[in-house]
Amino acid sequence: MKPQTPPKTYRVKSFGCQMNVYDGERMGELLAEKGITPAQEGEEADLVVLNTCHIREKAAEKVYSDIGRLKKPDGSKPMIAVAGCVAQAEGEEIMERAPSVSMVVGPQAYHRLPDMLDKAVKGERATDTDMPAIAKFDSLPKRKRRSPTAFLTVQEGCDKFCTYCVVPYTRGAEISRPYNDLVEEAYKLVEAGAREVTLLGQNVNAWAGEDKRGAKAGLGELIHRLAEVDGLERIRYTTSHPNDMDEALIEAHGTCDKLMPYLHLPVQSGNDRVLKAMNRAHTAESYLRLLERFRAVRPDIALSGDFIVGFPGESEAEFEDTLSLIDEVHYSQAFSFKYSPRPGTPAATMAGQIPEEVMKDRLARLQARLDRDQVAFNEACVGKRCQVLVERKGKRPGQWLGKSPWLTSVWFEANAQIGDMVEVELVEAGPNSIAGRLIEPALA
Ligand code: SAH
Ligand code: SF4
Ligand code: F3S
Repeated sequence: MKPQTPPKTYRVKSFGCQMNVYDGERMGELLAEKGITPAQEGEEADLVVLNTCHIREKAAEKVYSDIGRLKKPDGSKPMIAVAGCVAQAEGEEIMERAPSVSMVVGPQAYHRLPDMLDKAVKGERATDTDMPAIAKFDSLPKRKRRSPTAFLTVQEGCDKFCTYCVVPYTRGAEISRPYNDLVEEAYKLVEAGAREVTLLGQNVNAWAGEDKRGAKAGLGELIHRLAEVDGLERIRYTTSHPNDMDEALIEAHGTCDKLMPYLHLPVQSGNDRVLKAMNRAHTAESYLRLLERFRAVRPDIALSGDFIVGFPGESEAEFEDTLSLIDEVHYSQAFSFKYSPRPGTPAATMAGQIPEEVMKDRLARLQARLDRDQVAFNEACVGKRCQVLVERKGKRPGQWLGKSPWLTSVWFEANAQIGDMVEVELVEAGPNSIAGRLIEPALA
């Protein structure tokens, strides 16, 4: 590769989960420390970071088409870095297949991006997919993000090895960031303007640490501590695993006002044979019982989940068990996917791979149920009053958008600004959002 002009502007394009969005922000902060500025909307960047996701087929294929399409107005290529989970899983292949890529950096190594950039300028291509556990967070710059909502990674990696999933391979073993670092980062985020913080982890409720007195703490205890941060009004967390739930976290939903009444708890299937083949180590029944405990302490809690249809060997009757589970839970929103064989995972070579047509049909039927419940949830909200944290402008002048405590999008007309917490009456339900009427601006 030829030496390249040092980039003046960058753009990070993040795909996949919220963890990737968080990582993308932190890579941006690293580049900003080197004096590189974010490219403006519509402007071509000198350096493009593709922060990729490997969870399903299309996500990985997209990387190569994106690399092919990246061009500056003069026809030259920007400097390209591939980061994220495809980088981790297919680093060498990317270097071979895409000669225009200068840097490949895995999710646990991106704190080294500035050094790699220096090499790239000299014309040296660099790959770093090491997994040095916690080192990354220690060498990242301080948070400067200005937004009313922020992500905070508390836990990373996964030891669960669900048989369909690449995450344990791309993100490595479960690690928890230290309690004090998290409390400190939360203060920094609030100083920078955050009023809502979403705690992130591939298995966020597996977070384990020690509080400042040295006592063992889990996510419930951490949430209680973060709730003491003045100016932090709302706490959320995602994504949880049913097997890592403990009493303290459930209890926090009943006692911590700042913890929002929303739980994203993936189940994947409502059939025990399929769950076992997925290596989920919970049953449909144990999952339902767990949800009951949340509803007991927080009756209005909104529930969300993830589903996979067409796991190898899934019969029609087994699929229908998933529909029955949905009928029991009544999710407020949920995510559902066709099974996608991921290279290197046990399920990819299992017998009984389900034809695309069958998966398509099952997904449509499953999504019809989920849509039905989402609409019903939104309709049941009509007449309620709630606080909305204003996140952005709506389409029309004077219109604003924000989130209810239950994570539904609410739009309303007001003389407001981003970051306001306003009291709204919910007046009309749509499929994906609810219209509200301003009652009063809450105290800033
Ligand atoms: N750690 C979280 C979520 C990880 S990935 C959990 O275990 O709940 C997000 C979602 O992608 C998963 O919950 C699952 O529904 C889906 N997913 C993961 N691997 C998949 C695959 N190979 N095919 C289809 N969907 C998949
Ligand atoms: Fe993947 Fe399962 Fe780990 Fe979730 S718990 S990240 S689905 S292996
Ligand atoms: Fe995708 Fe990696 Fe997240 S595979 S979903 S970006 S952990």
